[in-house]
Amino acid sequence: MHNVRNITKDIVWIGASTRRQSMFENMFPIPRGVSYNSYLIKDEKTVLLDAVDEGVTSQFFENLEHELQGRELDYLVVHHMEPDHCASMGDLLRRYPKVQIVGNTKTFVMIRQFFGDDFSERAIVVKEGDTLCTGAHTLHFMMAPMVHWPEVMVSYDAYDKVLFSADGFGAFGALNGNIFADEVPFERDWLDETRRYYGNIVGKYGAPVNGLLKKLKALDVSIICPLHGLIWRQNLDVILEKHQKWSAYEAEEKGVVIFYASMYGNTASVADALAGRLADKGIKDIRVYDVSNTEISELIGEIFRVSHLVFASTTYNGGIYPRMEHLLSDMKALGIQKRTVALLENGSWAPSTAKQMRQRLEELKDIKILDEQITVNSVMHTDEGGRLESLAKAIAESMDEE
Ligand code: FEO
Repeated sequence: MHNVRNITKDIVWIGASTRRQSMFENMFPIPRGVSYNSYLIKDEKTVLLDAVDEGVTSQFFENLEHELQGRELDYLVVHHMEPDHCASMGDLLRRYPKVQIVGNTKTFVMIRQFFGDDFSERAIVVKEGDTLCTGAHTLHFMMAPMVHWPEVMVSYDAYDKVLFSADGFGAFGALNGNIFADEVPFERDWLDETRRYYGNIVGKYGAPVNGLLKKLKALDVSIICPLHGLIWRQNLDVILEKHQKWSAYEAEEKGVVIFYASMYGNTASVADALAGRLADKGIKDIRVYDVSNTEISELIGEIFRVSHLVFASTTYNGGIYPRMEHLLSDMKALGIQKRTVALLENGSWAPSTAKQMRQRLEELKDIKILDEQITVNSVMHTDEGGRLESLAKAIAESMDEE
């Protein structure tokens, strides 16, 4: 059964969601699924804006055929060549042999890499500032390299003031009929998955995202159509401001998150006690995570959200507990910046993890590591509470300073 929704009179969402795929990029759990958005402009010419992932191909073709109603497909615009948007392209080109492919030079290099052919006989190569007029609509192309991959571009339809933003402004989560952000409680149900998507998928590329945001300031955008997640047609500032902060690696909120790695619960006990002391000082909405039992991509989402981070880890094989090490190496890979950090370590005979965590964090940009630090030998006892109090005080004071 086809499932489409109109965005404007001429522009139709013809994408599809999956709730069957358990991981995105075969790495990130997506318990709420994900959508692969695709759009069709029905003008004097017909224009398909991106295809979809292999897993939703049959739904996509059903939607496309329904909307074309026997018309020819004239153009396929390829904003992004990653297979979650292009796996179905080979099939599409066979079904619509007259379709012309619109992409940039790098797009066609990748098309050849993936499909063994760059289809040069039907290629329209565009560059920054080029346009494609399809009747009433004119698409303006803007290059957005490394807003995930180097060939990424976005396009702006001046007629309906629509931005087709590729991976930009996307989110994890299947679409449930309500494809527009104004049809759902975004902050309650979608913000965390939008941030988790941004942080883990695009988070490394803050500068290119920031560059795209600057370009958009010159445009009058009324609707944002990303390749994943919700479409924005109201209150665009909500999603633009979030991306402004994320791309500058600025915390959305002043607050504390504690990440602990604990084998037998003793480091966990100290982490919880620290959270209690912080709460006593008036700090609200503290969150404590066991790195062994929490998906790392969720922890990365939290790091993009909040200003103050506490890493509490037991020493393992003379080093950092592996799950904590994973988190720290992801932080480095994603280029996390501008956070205040406190460290806490445990070790029954040679605690050394705080020193090693400090070295890792010092490799990141603009990370302030508090001098106050706690070493626990196996278990923290009640008579050591003063040390916990000192650390809580140092964290609270650093929050007041900023
Ligand atoms: Fe949704 Fe970078 O692909």
